[in-house]
Amino acid sequence: MALSFFNKNKKAKKSVEKLPDTLPNHVGFIMDGNGRWATKRGMPRTFGHREGAKNFKDLSLYCRDIGIRNASFYVFSTENWKRPQDEIDAIMDLFWDYLSEADQYLEKRVRMIFVGDRSRLQDRLQKRMNELENDSKDFEKMNLILAINYGGRDEIRHATQEIARQVKDGLLDPDAITEETIEKHLYTAGLPDVDLLIRPSGELRLSNYLIWQCAYAEYYFTNVLWPDFKRNEFNKALINYAQRGRRFGGI
Ligand code: FPP
Repeated sequence: MALSFFNKNKKAKKSVEKLPDTLPNHVGFIMDGNGRWATKRGMPRTFGHREGAKNFKDLSLYCRDIGIRNASFYVFSTENWKRPQDEIDAIMDLFWDYLSEADQYLEKRVRMIFVGDRSRLQDRLQKRMNELENDSKDFEKMNLILAINYGGRDEIRHATQEIARQVKDGLLDPDAITEETIEKHLYTAGLPDVDLLIRPSGELRLSNYLIWQCAYAEYYFTNVLWPDFKRNEFNKALINYAQRGRRFGGI
């Protein structure tokens, strides 16, 4: 099943000519709408997550093939633990299945990076995540960033604690703390800010996703639900992005 999925990706090349010259360096995806997608079909919410996971696999490889250098996906937030246990288990199982087949990403020279507090995740997940990060650390084709048990506020709390410890130990002067100091302590240290943030499903909010890194992102919202947010919908977002003027506070 996994192999046929990867072979299908050859189709990516065909749509490349329709794309604009200016592509975002970092695209962030909030994969929202899986539950509603399933409910509309009279199916359990977990069915929607399964479809959502398939779409994630396709779009992440598409990003790689069209030359996006950094793609990040919101898999599970620090707030998602409030969901029913069977839904949490289903998402974690899908994540495990994906990690189990992810060697195929490494063959495509995709670097895998996980952001978030992994200490609360199952041991098998943590072990595999460390393995994949380590095995792909020198790959240059694309950074694939997966946010799991991630919250933007929690990330800033964590960074603040690390910085405070350095101050306490006399290693850092509080007056020497710059934005770069904070960035260096985020889970995303060394990764670029988000240029284009995509949220399907009609919700107009960031939901604690990469809140520091999205300070100057362009936002793209659509009513399409995540399982239906296919390559053609993504192409529309890229075309829309290319038409925007970005001034970063200047004129
Ligand atoms: C939000 O939609 C989606 C999530 C909280 C989970 C996202 C997870 C996946 C796409 C599957 C697992 C991922 C990988 C990498 C294998 P929602 O359920 O809140 O949708 P709703 O707003 O319609 O209820």
